[in-house]
Amino acid sequence: MEQQLATVIAPSEDSKRAINLSDIIELEQISKRTKSEHDSSKDVNVMLEAKPFDWDKWYVNKFLGKGAFGSVWKITNRETAQVMAMKFFPQSFIPYMEKEAMTMAVLSQSCPELVQYKGIYKTHYTPVPGTDQMEREDNYALLMEWVPGPDLYQQVKSNIQPDLITFYNVSLQLLHQLACIHSVGVVHGDLSSRNIIYDGKIAKLIDYGFGCAYGKQAINMDIYVNCVFNEGGTPLYRAPEVWEQKGTVSPASDIFSLGMVLAEWFLANINWFWSSTATFPSEKFVQHVELNKKIPNYVKTMLSLNPADRPTAAQLIPTVRRLFNSAFHNQR
Ligand SMILES: Nc1ncnc2c1ncn2[C@@H]1O[C@H](COP(=O)(O)OP(=O)(O)O)[C@@H](O)[C@H]1O
Ligand SMILES: [Mg+2]
Repeated sequence: MEQQLATVIAPSEDSKRAINLSDIIELEQISKRTKSEHDSSKDVNVMLEAKPFDWDKWYVNKFLGKGAFGSVWKITNRETAQVMAMKFFPQSFIPYMEKEAMTMAVLSQSCPELVQYKGIYKTHYTPVPGTDQMEREDNYALLMEWVPGPDLYQQVKSNIQPDLITFYNVSLQLLHQLACIHSVGVVHGDLSSRNIIYDGKIAKLIDYGFGCAYGKQAINMDIYVNCVFNEGGTPLYRAPEVWEQKGTVSPASDIFSLGMVLAEWFLANINWFWSSTATFPSEKFVQHVELNKKIPNYVKTMLSLNPADRPTAAQLIPTVRRLFNSAFHNQR
């Protein structure tokens, strides 16, 4: 994956979304990389000037989930009872953490509906899974807003079909979030049911570890890793053109991945699921979706094999809102 030197470019004057660059500059200072070719072994030596985390004020109270890059825990402030989520990273994942933190910092400024970024810290203690103990271990951690609920994968694997109102409602929330992400020139790059938190009411996109800057509208093109050569995260949700081109995720490939998530939830069918060795496994699934008469048409358009045929998130919003409104009124 190609990495770029972190330099801050101010957003254009007419940029509709005001971006406070102070966070980014702070992050930029902690992520001084060489302009030479990317070599992940060098990144391990990058000294993050992150503040130490004050464990006297906080305690860890729950394991929230584990992904490819880190484990996430819920933490609570001893005095105020405020809760946060903390993602612990081993040293070797520092380059990913920096990228994720930068992406989240920019998105938090522009998209208040997304999980808000709170900072990167150095932590000298790490929770031990399966216990209520912390062990002495030098690590880094990304602090962010805590979102209640399990991931959407729990719904998918329960094999219970969502009712239409719920389905449209969640689609709408996720499309709003995605439209905001795309409006600032960021691609999520890893949309999957495990990267959506859903508590039965509120759904949120999480995990910006594969986020990247795309196209001219990218506000801080150089502070992110560019989307070129980024083939994104979970293979099963990957768009066909990303398979073919060996990677360049885009807003259209995000739409495809979100279409996959929505289709699998709607069909509540995971029999075909989680084959880590498959290549473009979604092709068969997409044909299956195409033939299904019940699945809403907007989901089918999201799964168009040609990216040019897929609507944008912003274009989908009015369609899904109309469907939601009519389902809601018909129910009463
Ligand atoms: N802000 C958060 N609030 C609550 N749970 C979270 C939060 N962020 C992550 N999680 C949980 O932790 C899991 C792993 O986090 P994620 O960011 O997806 O890590 P990875 O990059 O390793 O996949 C998620 O699937 C989710 O269950
Ligand atoms: Mg994840």
